Amino acid sequence: MASTQPTTLRWGIISTGHIASVFVKDLLVDPKTRDVHDVVHKVVAIGSRTVEKAQEFIDKYAAGDKSIKPYGTYEGVYSDPDVDAIYIGTPHTMHYVNARDALKAKKAVLCEKPVTLNAAELRSLLAIAKENNVFFMEALWTRFQPLVKELKKVAEDGSLGEPIMVEADLCANFGVEKLPITHRILDPRLGGGALLDLGPYPLFWAILALYEHPSNANTRPSGISASMIKTPLTNVDSNTTFTLSFTPTSSSSLSAQANLTCAINVRGINPSVVIRYRHGNIHVAAPSPCPKSFKVEYFDNNGKLVREEKKVYEYVGGGWHFQADEVARCIREGKIQSEAWGWDKSLLEMEIFDEVRRQGGYVFPKGVEQVV
Ligand SMILES: NC(=O)c1ccc[n+]([C@@H]2O[C@H](COP(=O)([O-])OP(=O)(O)OC[C@H]3O[C@@H](n4cnc5c(N)ncnc54)[C@H](OP(=O)(O)O)[C@@H]3O)[C@@H](O)[C@H]2O)c1
Repeated sequence: MASTQPTTLRWGIISTGHIASVFVKDLLVDPKTRDVHDVVHKVVAIGSRTVEKAQEFIDKYAAGDKSIKPYGTYEGVYSDPDVDAIYIGTPHTMHYVNARDALKAKKAVLCEKPVTLNAAELRSLLAIAKENNVFFMEALWTRFQPLVKELKKVAEDGSLGEPIMVEADLCANFGVEKLPITHRILDPRLGGGALLDLGPYPLFWAILALYEHPSNANTRPSGISASMIKTPLTNVDSNTTFTLSFTPTSSSSLSAQANLTCAINVRGINPSVVIRYRHGNIHVAAPSPCPKSFKVEYFDNNGKLVREEKKVYEYVGGGWHFQADEVARCIREGKIQSEAWGWDKSLLEMEIFDEVRRQGGYVFPKGVEQVV
């Protein structure tokens, strides 16, 4: 019997901060532990602003693996012929330049959320990806977790009816009073604040539950209403609430709202997401980026609870590796975008954030946005 070898994707990592470390740890988890047999990952290069930090990172997170090359510039990674795909884990304000340079070097790119600072930056990146015929995806890792795949089936099999209300939240208490004002969560020159850092997750759940629902067929929301409270420390948003309305159109029968919350000064709620349907509810456990369980309540025609089902998920690693598997498969198949988290969804996200910032009065300092 012919054996099929898994596809190996060779990764170059840009930056050595927190998220780069957890992503690399997950890349080094054997994919067979999550029942993945068609792709494997190899870390081949680490790029940092100093070569010492790159080497330290390799020593700490990859057991000093001598086959991984440390670079003291990000450009070294972009031009390394052994690198197939680049992962970008720099602060939000650097995503545009880092992704642009990697795409121009014809490398596939997986870029951390929020993919850019605004929709104009993203449109420019998408044009560059298209022009160079290279894969590009926002690292919206939640979309690729096994729980989400299963929940989507339940949400769309018709037994719950149409969705009507979504509440989704991601808050975290960063102890901002004790942080230096140059910390990326506070500094407007690094795109600080709750919306850009945490907002992608509540919005993701609205996109999954409403935008992607078959009755809506990827029709955009008809209304956005937003409110921001700013921290006096640096004037970035400490709390943001935004509501999306979906109303019936020629392409959508959906009549639903999503109420989305994020904050950097308070703990999140549990469940972190509740999706309410005509005939039941789905409760998703906190934290909303990587929940490990969800509960479905089914109602009879009188709205009485008749059945509950709970599903629990366990896997080896932090959950960031599922998106890496998606990147490897897309590249193997010659795709330049993922169907599950395609460019339309990142663009919708950035356009909604532009509008939320406009209503909330959040303006980046001059020169921070690379494309306006
Ligand atoms: N998906 C998730 O679960 C998740 C979780 C946390 C954060 N994120 C995203 O990942 C990105 C980075 O967050 P993080 O928490 O990893 O940040 P972090 O720990 O501060 O790391 C950012 C890294 O970027 C590099 N960098 C380049 N220019 C910089 C500058 N001017 N200031 C600070 N760092 C600079 C640094 O690496 P070198 O010195 O080596 O170049 C630094 O270590 C953000 O966009 C955030 O939204 C995603």
